[in-house]
Amino acid sequence: MKRSTFLRMTALAGSAFSVMPAKTVFGNPSSRLRLGVIGTGLRGQELLRLSLQHTGAEVPAICDIQEVMIEDALRIYDKAGKSKPVVYSGSPLAYKEMLQREDIDAVIIATPWEWHYPMAMDAMDAGKHVGCEVMMGSTVEEHWNIVKKAESSGLQYMMLENVCYRRDAMAVLNMVRQGIFGELIHLQGGYQHDLREVKFNDGKQPYGGGVEFGEKGFSEANWRTQHSIDRNGDLYPTHGIGPLSKMLDIHAGNRFVSLVSMASKARGLHDYIVKKGGTDHPNAGVRFKLGDVVTTMIETEKGETILLQHDTSLPRPYSLGFRVQGTKGLWMDINKSIHIEDISQPHRWEEAKEWIEKFDHPLWQRHGNDASGAGHGGMDFFVVNAFIESVRRGEPTPVSVYDSAAWSVITPLSEWSVANNSNSILFPDFTEGKWKTGKQFFALSDDY
Ligand SMILES: NC(=O)c1ccc[n+]([C@@H]2O[C@H](COP(=O)([O-])OP(=O)(O)OC[C@H]3O[C@@H](n4cnc5c(N)ncnc54)[C@H](O)[C@@H]3O)[C@@H](O)[C@H]2O)c1
Repeated sequence: MKRSTFLRMTALAGSAFSVMPAKTVFGNPSSRLRLGVIGTGLRGQELLRLSLQHTGAEVPAICDIQEVMIEDALRIYDKAGKSKPVVYSGSPLAYKEMLQREDIDAVIIATPWEWHYPMAMDAMDAGKHVGCEVMMGSTVEEHWNIVKKAESSGLQYMMLENVCYRRDAMAVLNMVRQGIFGELIHLQGGYQHDLREVKFNDGKQPYGGGVEFGEKGFSEANWRTQHSIDRNGDLYPTHGIGPLSKMLDIHAGNRFVSLVSMASKARGLHDYIVKKGGTDHPNAGVRFKLGDVVTTMIETEKGETILLQHDTSLPRPYSLGFRVQGTKGLWMDINKSIHIEDISQPHRWEEAKEWIEKFDHPLWQRHGNDASGAGHGGMDFFVVNAFIESVRRGEPTPVSVYDSAAWSVITPLSEWSVANNSNSILFPDFTEGKWKTGKQFFALSDDY
């Protein structure tokens, strides 16, 4: 039996709604996962670096269309002391050639959003498991197609949503699971990050993101800004909804039911261009469709409400704005505070620090050292580790294709709601009823 066929069959046997198969030994070199990386831009480079460091993986091939990004990626091989990969480049479809390789079991996709869908579909058609950066597709139909493809092929699709592994969010998940907050009632999160300027990899040289974009823009400014011109909705919901969804046991007895979104007016990007480039700058005439603050509310089957905010075009410090509230108290990350009834002083906040340390998740206790130096405060290590470990062992990925679809589909649903006077829209049930009996596979051990 071909190795890739074996990996596929074991993955199918362990799909998120069946019994979990027995574990294989950690670090067994005979079951190394062989990866190809598509997109070696800023994000892909970090995922590549972590994959090359992992004892359970190797990366024999990479693909990108920009020389500068490929050169940076090759330097990562040098630094890791690994032999150079085969490089695919020269055309936007060069990745298809890479997918034909027999010595690749899975791909990591870290390209612009609009490429995620065709690349993931092609990868699964070629028999490869997929670990894809956030956003599965652009339309509801594309989300269904990925789900159906993963089901029919028996391949794993995992969204590489790293914030699920943020240390404080995982400690709070631990507290939720131990009933510290009582029954969950209302949760908040989002993506609140001033993205008006994009810097080079070394973090020193600003490249005028927000003023220069498209062909003149570097990294995300090359493609992301165009989405702000063309679309209006929550374009990046998954950093907020990922961790919250795991706290709410979505697809393990719960599910998202409906959504409403409302967008403010758009001023931030235009004002930034005028401030940096003057009123005569060619981009000063660009009309941005994306509202500066997009607010979305989601209702779950079990009656919890979730509030998500997308806020990337105004001056502001970074914050994902988490709030986790139940019948016994709440945690908020913006003021790093907690209040638990009968333990905290009545009506008073207390610092969350001690709670977060006390309930540090076993995964962090075990892998905290391995994660030090990894991107985004270490959480990038965990998401890469989880993908590599689950796929190479043939176990269900801790973020399933159904989770990935339900988180990512918030974008087209919110675009619809914004365009329709904030009308409510029902979530598609990608599990087709299996959410009722689905099991939770996220962070249940100190392994991955
Ligand atoms: N999870 C996180 O914390 C996080 C952080 C940053 C970015 N991201 C996500 O990662 C993805 C990439 O973002 P980025 O910041 O690295 O952007 P980037 O522009 O730096 O990298 C994208 C890379 O894809 C390459 N590319 C574009 N089209 C291609 C094609 N047809 N074939 C091969 N390569 C192609 C580009 O040349 C570029 O090198 C996005 O989906 C982004 O949202 C996630």
